[in-house]
Amino acid sequence: MSITEHRVLGDHRGQLIAIEGSQDVPFAVKRVFYIYGTKPDVPRGQHSHHKTQQYLIAVNGSCSVTLDDGNQKTTYSLNQPNKGLLQDALVWGAMHDFSPDCVLLVLASEHYDDADYIRDYEQFLKVVGA
Ligand code: TYD
Repeated sequence: MSITEHRVLGDHRGQLIAIEGSQDVPFAVKRVFYIYGTKPDVPRGQHSHHKTQQYLIAVNGSCSVTLDDGNQKTTYSLNQPNKGLLQDALVWGAMHDFSPDCVLLVLASEHYDDADYIRDYEQFLKVVGA
């Protein structure tokens, strides 16, 4: 898990970044959602998924993302629209320290399914065998 920097297709008109499913992200994109207007000091996420992989891009503003595989926690800063971060399945993720103008775009490998969520941290540690 690390930050990927995508190519910016800029010209005299401005900037454009293209993300291709199964090419720039390691899955076919089935769902897109975005988070914005996040209140100061409010974290989001704080769960893992059995199957869903997610790819996170702060297309405006900035936020931090802490990923935890059960053994190691790493905090990443998303602060450029060309930076993306993969949250793999069975990785606990928390998004925090949102700037007021942050728009966090999330590409997901699966349709929304509440049953795919692991919301309890102790259960997560059991599932990953940590
Ligand atoms: P929630 O999982 O609490 O958001 P976050 O992970 O950012 O903390 O989701 C908030 C609400 O939105 C909850 O009622 C579930 C719903 N939701 C969908 O209907 N579809 C989706 O793709 C997502 C991510 C959430």
